[in-house]
Amino acid sequence: MNISVTVVGSCNTDLISYVPRLPKQGETIQGSRFSMGFGGKGANQCVMAARLGAKAAMVAKVGADTFGENFIKNFKDNGINRDFVTVTDQSTTGVAPICVEEAGQNSIVIVPGANLLLSEEDVYAAKSLITSSKVVICQLEINPQTTLAALKLAKKFGVLTIFNPAPGLANLDTEFYTYSDIICPNETEAEILTGLPVKSIEDAKMAANILLKRGCGKVIITLGEQGSVIATTDTSEVKHVPAQKVKVVDTTGAGDAFIGSLAFYLAENPHLGLEESVRRATILAGISVQSPGTQTSMPWASELDPKILS
Ligand code: RIB
Ligand code: NA
Repeated sequence: MNISVTVVGSCNTDLISYVPRLPKQGETIQGSRFSMGFGGKGANQCVMAARLGAKAAMVAKVGADTFGENFIKNFKDNGINRDFVTVTDQSTTGVAPICVEEAGQNSIVIVPGANLLLSEEDVYAAKSLITSSKVVICQLEINPQTTLAALKLAKKFGVLTIFNPAPGLANLDTEFYTYSDIICPNETEAEILTGLPVKSIEDAKMAANILLKRGCGKVIITLGEQGSVIATTDTSEVKHVPAQKVKVVDTTGAGDAFIGSLAFYLAENPHLGLEESVRRATILAGISVQSPGTQTSMPWASELDPKILS
């Protein structure tokens, strides 16, 4: 099928309100601006990989509504294979009302809708796609059993699996670790998975070692402006990869920009190796936080210095 990156994951229409600060319980505040955009961690990661030049495909479910129709068109506009994006009339397309406060930090409510109807059968229906890809990416915005089925199928056929355990889920089945070549949580998700506070680079190094022992080959914990740490079974040293200082406008989707970029590099430029791929994915995530929105802030290959791509 000639696809290099397949994402099995979520589609959410993001409903973004820009507010001076996040409202307190029972409080009504006035926002300054509203925008609607394509989001969902799965779709975001797929779009980022595709924009950089990966031959990308999405396995997902949307509702039989306008949001769903627009979603399919958006995949097309981003050059993404959508043979396995199915439509259900049993639920609505996922939505994510988001508040972004002045400093660029966000809080998000997700109503998954159709995302939760993406089933193990849907994964098996996409077997030829999944097993012929170079990299498969999964998250936790769909039914966890569906995610696990996708990771297992990919891994069984030697496809590199990247698992982004987001949103965080405590007491994750250990199989999620053993079927992930790379697990990539952010600091909050790493706290949920380990039960330890992950604030500093040192905390993250400790958490990464704990996650590594649960059976995945490599752990990357992203730390926002502090960059990320990488732990692998090949060495006892946990590497810190710093992030460049940038002016933050909107961090929504920055983690997705990172993971989509990482998948692009590992699939299309494997000669770069993991650390260099992480370094470049950090730069691309840094670009995405400097403009508003999720997918709207993800750069296309044509807008970038070609040196960062190859
Ligand atoms: O990671 C950002 C994404 O999380 C948003 O696009 C929103 O849809 C939520 O799923
Ligand atoms: Na952004």
